[in-house]
Amino acid sequence: MPATSQDLTLDVIRERFQELFGHAPEIIVRAPGRVNLIGEHTDYNDGFVFPAAIDRHVLMAASRRNDPQIRAFSMNFQQASTFALDRIDRVAEGPERWSNYLRAVAWALQQEGLPVQGLNCVVQGNVPLGAGLSSSAAMLVAAGLLMTAATGIDVERVRLALIAQRAEREFVGVNVGIMDQFISALGQKDHALLIDTRALTCEAVPLPASGVRIVIADTNKKRGLVDSEYNTRRAECEQAVHLLRAYLPGITALRDVDAEALQRHARALPETVLRRARHVVTENARTLESVNALKAGDIARFGALMNASHESLKIDYEVSCSELDAMVDAARSVEGVYGARMTGAGFGGCTVSLVAAEAIETFLQVVPERYRQATGLQATIYVTAAAQGAERLL
Ligand code: GLA
Repeated sequence: MPATSQDLTLDVIRERFQELFGHAPEIIVRAPGRVNLIGEHTDYNDGFVFPAAIDRHVLMAASRRNDPQIRAFSMNFQQASTFALDRIDRVAEGPERWSNYLRAVAWALQQEGLPVQGLNCVVQGNVPLGAGLSSSAAMLVAAGLLMTAATGIDVERVRLALIAQRAEREFVGVNVGIMDQFISALGQKDHALLIDTRALTCEAVPLPASGVRIVIADTNKKRGLVDSEYNTRRAECEQAVHLLRAYLPGITALRDVDAEALQRHARALPETVLRRARHVVTENARTLESVNALKAGDIARFGALMNASHESLKIDYEVSCSELDAMVDAARSVEGVYGARMTGAGFGGCTVSLVAAEAIETFLQVVPERYRQATGLQATIYVTAAAQGAERLL
């Protein structure tokens, strides 16, 4: 029987571990990246998101040490990094920066009062870096699963996601929502998860078993502004809530506002803040509607809502860019594409399209070519399937 690509990667990481540490690993875990189908920039507004885990992941192999140290090696960066668990520093710059994700999770576990054990560790991943497919969430969730497995603590998955989020916010220093960590920790094969980011609950919704594919297209545009603009958008959403509260005293987040109420109090908001709020409010409604459409088998409606999501992100939320718009246009020009939109934080990174299976070949021929004509850049296309969330493999 031919080995799957995951088996191959497992063999490679085992071998490398053996070479580096002179014994076999005791624990191996895997955590995936993600693609968000719809529900963008809603998670830090207590809203709804609808992502799927993808079949690209981070693998970590480890054995326990007798001293309180983590000795780690990244196969992607061909770089070792060692840190002591009683004084975890952040690497500000240089080739060991990848290890911040391990450091962050060890730190966050300690903050939560959980024990962390010394480890030898090898890390390898195939989630494209900086492409908006959550390679960082995959690293954090894998590290959390690895470190808790090593101490024999069974941390519930939502808590694992929250620990990974805390690590990213407070140690790495990026003020993210919960979507990426949640889907990496709880994703289900062949399903997308409708996540209520306020209740921290989810519903697994089956994706069409045949006939439709999820296609990710990387613009290969470096995501320059993303951190500062992300924080600005968060602040604008908070400002909207603050101003609307004078009229809608019960609200604590834009999740609590519907389109009609926003319209009624539009004059309370500066023009830009109103557009930001309108994106979030309409995106929450689109997300819920799209899930109903999917359940009813109405892929055309789902695709139309993806298209509307992109327009809203482009015009009202202003987190798209010319490369993302060009990729979306190229995708929509192919017959058999139900819908296409940017996915993730924006300002570069990837688009996601829902494509009829019989149109995939045309998509692969036409979209990179049209994108190259429009931008001069090379696209990278991944035809993907919804994968299982994080798991212990050994
Ligand atoms: C990034 C963040 C998520 C979410 C998206 C935008 O991926 O990590 O929490 O806010 O951007 O939807």
